[in-house]
Amino acid sequence: MRKYVIAGNWKMNNTPAQTKELINEMKPLVAGASCEVVLCVPFVDIAAAVEAAKGSDIKIGAENIHWAESGAFTGEISGDMLKAAGAEYVIIGHSERRQYFGETDDTVNARLKAAIAAGLTPIVCVGETLEQREKNITVETVAMQTKIAFRDISTADAKNTVIAYEPVWAIGTGKTATDEQADEVNGAIRNVIAEIYGKDVADSIVIQYGGSMNAKNAEGLLAKEHIDGGLIGGASLKAQDFAVIVNAAK
Ligand code: 13P
Repeated sequence: MRKYVIAGNWKMNNTPAQTKELINEMKPLVAGASCEVVLCVPFVDIAAAVEAAKGSDIKIGAENIHWAESGAFTGEISGDMLKAAGAEYVIIGHSERRQYFGETDDTVNARLKAAIAAGLTPIVCVGETLEQREKNITVETVAMQTKIAFRDISTADAKNTVIAYEPVWAIGTGKTATDEQADEVNGAIRNVIAEIYGKDVADSIVIQYGGSMNAKNAEGLLAKEHIDGGLIGGASLKAQDFAVIVNAAK
């Protein structure tokens, strides 16, 4: 049995003070959740989030990681820094990073290795654009992204990695993939993992869906065989909505 992982991705929202306020509001609402609850927050909010989440089951994550341990990389943050700040998870290869900041499948692979080396749980994002979906190359696209992301990653490390399928056309648009569309692609990703690592890893790896997941559609998506959680943008900025999604994951 796979444990659901519901992770918020706050993107570029909230100051440290707002972080504390929002997490304090969320804590009682997600208490006793039967899934893993994670909030991935901006770098400068990590310390405040870790402090605010104390005494709850909410885990804190970052939204990016650099591949080097340290050095002349102005503006970047290393795995050891994230770990020292109290982060336990990290998002890698979000489509906004791919789209606006030149992230490639190869840099995703490098960041994944760095996250594993630092002892963080990675959430690796894959997903097709609208153009790729219309050209009927969705499965090929996510398969390629997945294969390159996991290049030279061991079986044991792959097993502990979370994958998030996030169709680019569904992010922040209010357009969600249907339960069936999402399940189909998540299943295809699981097949790719089975090809590389075998059935045991494929059966146990957590594959989330993300893209306009909200309090209304979460239950249907999470009921699908291959959807083991969600990566939530907009709805993770609202305590009540996020809690509804968390509580739908059982
Ligand atoms: P929305 O839930 O706002 O569509 O964002 C999804 C996302 O990008 C999560 O990483």
